[in-house]
Amino acid sequence: MSKLLPTEQGRRIAAQFPRMKKRAFFNSASLGPWPKSAHAALKKHISLWDKTIDATTEVFDAWREIKSELGRMINAPPEQIGFAFNTSHGISIAAGGVKLAAGDEIILSEVEFPANTYPWTNLRHKGVIVNFIPAPNRCFDLDIFRRSITPRTRLLAISFVQYFNGFRNDLEELGKICREHGLFFMVDGIQGVGTVPLDVQKCQIDFLACGAQKWLLSPVGSGFFYIAPHTRPEVEANFAGWFGIDWKADWTYLLRHDLLPEKTADRFNLSAVPYLQILAMRNSIKLVNSLGVENIHQHNLALLDQLIDYLHDHKYYRIASDLSPAHRSSILSIACPEALRLQKYLQERNIITSFREDLLRISAHFFNTPSHMQNLINSLEMFFKRIAAR
Ligand SMILES: Cc1ncc(COP(=O)(O)O)c(C=O)c1O
Repeated sequence: MSKLLPTEQGRRIAAQFPRMKKRAFFNSASLGPWPKSAHAALKKHISLWDKTIDATTEVFDAWREIKSELGRMINAPPEQIGFAFNTSHGISIAAGGVKLAAGDEIILSEVEFPANTYPWTNLRHKGVIVNFIPAPNRCFDLDIFRRSITPRTRLLAISFVQYFNGFRNDLEELGKICREHGLFFMVDGIQGVGTVPLDVQKCQIDFLACGAQKWLLSPVGSGFFYIAPHTRPEVEANFAGWFGIDWKADWTYLLRHDLLPEKTADRFNLSAVPYLQILAMRNSIKLVNSLGVENIHQHNLALLDQLIDYLHDHKYYRIASDLSPAHRSSILSIACPEALRLQKYLQERNIITSFREDLLRISAHFFNTPSHMQNLINSLEMFFKRIAAR
């Protein structure tokens, strides 16, 4: 049985998201709200800057703290985590650097979000073959994947959670298959990290790319990537930013043009991390970790269970997400004949969802409450009655 977060946590969360009192915001799969602590950090930084006070040291301390918090979240050492402006930036580091030759094959799913397709199809100009495999019922199928692997297959790129129906891929099993066949295993984490537990080592992930603007409740322009230690030599840096060089913490004498790159994920640094993003992100990531991703996952499932109970056997609505426990996430999608009109109808009632691939997508996060969910259910029923009365 899934469990809601305890009431005292609920109070703490409500204080961080005061605007959620009047708003049923079920759209973290698009862009997540920032907690009050992140707003406050931004305001403080702007006021320091107004007084021309240099906050560089604080920013780099914050970045170190974020790395260790993220490391805790995904079970990775901090030195294997690097900053990325978004998921696409991380994926592009992998796609631009992984060693692939003409005739090598990459496997993608036909239902993959474009951030995780274009960086790979872009490699066609090198003669790399991109194989989009079919997804029956719009879900990734392990047997089709196994059958699609050929002696030339080198890489699988896949989402942790599918953006439009919330299908959670079995990363542990995929990791095993990739290892057996010597495939590079690249994961787009953005729809799962921070809301569904992930252990990158257990899943044998080679490279994880993740924007922080959705479930990690941080500004657009913030995110991270993880690169496994054995993978680092396999991914070349096709650029060399001066922050990717091992200065041995001495930035006073810079006219040394023969230094070597960093040995950690920092090798992929271009320049300084963006100050505002980092300061906001620190507070959001700490809040997520302080609640615990497993507890958040359980809370979100419990809220969605409330919705599932209502939708079960409904005359008008059909659940379009896979409900088997191993494939559930914090996204649940609904099919109905007028889903776009429904999404607008809900928005007019201050219930925020999204419309993706013909489905109404509901994203539940830890600041959502059973009364938000009841509000959504009541509005779904009113919409249905209107349609039925026509
Ligand atoms: C699976 C997935 N990947 C990536 C993105 C976004 O990529 P980026 O962070 O580069 O904007 C989204 C949503 O916008 C997504 O759903």
